[in-house]
Amino acid sequence: MKIVVTGGAGFIGSNFLTRLVPRYPEHSFVNLDKLTYAANLRSLASIAEAPNYQLARVDLADMAAVDALFAAQKPDLVVHFAAESHVDRSIVGPKDFIDANIVGTFNLLEACRKHWPRGQGLLHHVSTDEVYGSLGATGYFTEETRYDPSSPYSASKAASDHLVRAYHRTYGLATKITNCSNNYGPRQFPEKLIPLMILNALEGKPLPVYGAGLNVRDWLYVDDHCEAIWTVVEKGRVGETYNIGGRSERKNIDVVHAICSILAQETNQPVEKLTGLIKYVTDRPGHDLRYAIDATRLASECGWTPRETFETGLKKTVRWYLDNPQWIEDVRSGEYRKWIDRNYGERTGHP
Ligand code: NAD
Ligand code: DAU
Repeated sequence: MKIVVTGGAGFIGSNFLTRLVPRYPEHSFVNLDKLTYAANLRSLASIAEAPNYQLARVDLADMAAVDALFAAQKPDLVVHFAAESHVDRSIVGPKDFIDANIVGTFNLLEACRKHWPRGQGLLHHVSTDEVYGSLGATGYFTEETRYDPSSPYSASKAASDHLVRAYHRTYGLATKITNCSNNYGPRQFPEKLIPLMILNALEGKPLPVYGAGLNVRDWLYVDDHCEAIWTVVEKGRVGETYNIGGRSERKNIDVVHAICSILAQETNQPVEKLTGLIKYVTDRPGHDLRYAIDATRLASECGWTPRETFETGLKKTVRWYLDNPQWIEDVRSGEYRKWIDRNYGERTGHP
């Protein structure tokens, strides 16, 4: 089988490829990636020379390039990770999110429609629980929860989900969608909460907590997400949506304290030295209060459950960043510094 993985040089895509390429030597994998700031080829070092893997630098917003890749590669399966993925960046500059997430998904769907006669091919669209908006103190997102996105990022992902469903209903394209909660683990770009806190703490820099730190996210270790996607590819129903989540709800401030306590143990320093770096800063506009996923459909239909607990996954994650200083150097480009200055330079204090 020929499998095109879009966004395979990003956080989740690289974890997916480095698991699946060695496991399935009988399949060939093509990584379609624009290689934006969020990509890091070092994340793919273990498979770069594998005979069943190749990289194609393509921007999904370039329809002719996407079409040419389909004509040349003739994929049987597309797993679509590629997106602009950071909520704060979408607030500062939404246009890239429209181009990558909406236009990019549209171009991919058009290529599938053109190159796959009815009954051929499968597009697996990787999406987010943020399309459902915010929960109050109780309740869970199910696959029937009404879409109510808050940020330009989540609105662009909601639009892409709607397009994928429309192509299934209108053109009979074989599609599956998964909506997952917050991922963490190795190879995550340090603009996201967990790696940002780890790297700042290691450098003795402030740990910027938005608002009062009481927003809740439902954390899932990235390997569990990758296995859930592959499970849905193999066992899920065509045209169906599956929620993926870890039943690991944590307040942001508790996550930051947990990171400080693991780092204190790992680096032999008093925890107070690290927790003393916590700084409450101006909140994210439109900040969703709480996400929590009901993944019953995935468990009952496909038999998937997460393997990692938040405690074991977080320890592994901290250890990975401690063991991979060269990876960190690679992502700390001038572009990364500019983003950090812009986002945190403007957040002067508690709201
Ligand atoms: P990421 O930002 O780490 O990586 C995105 C990848 O997509 C990068 O390699 C980038 O170069 C590529 N890309 C961006 N625009 C592109 C374009 N126009 N053409 C081709 N490639 C392009 O993202 P991630 O955190 O790995 O997320 C992957 C997917 O999973 C996204 O669709 C995201 O919405 C979804 N998701 C992420 C999470 C999470 O917690 N990170 C949770 C649920 C769903
Ligand atoms: O829920 C799935 C989504 O999870 C994915 O679709 C997104 O691609 C992914 O980025 C993530 O979105 P979040 O906005 O939830 O993740 P982030 O790591 O940016 O923030 C997690 C929480 O931590 C959120 O409540 C905001 C807060 N936060 C974040 C940063 C970067 C802080 O308090 N301080 C920070 O510096």
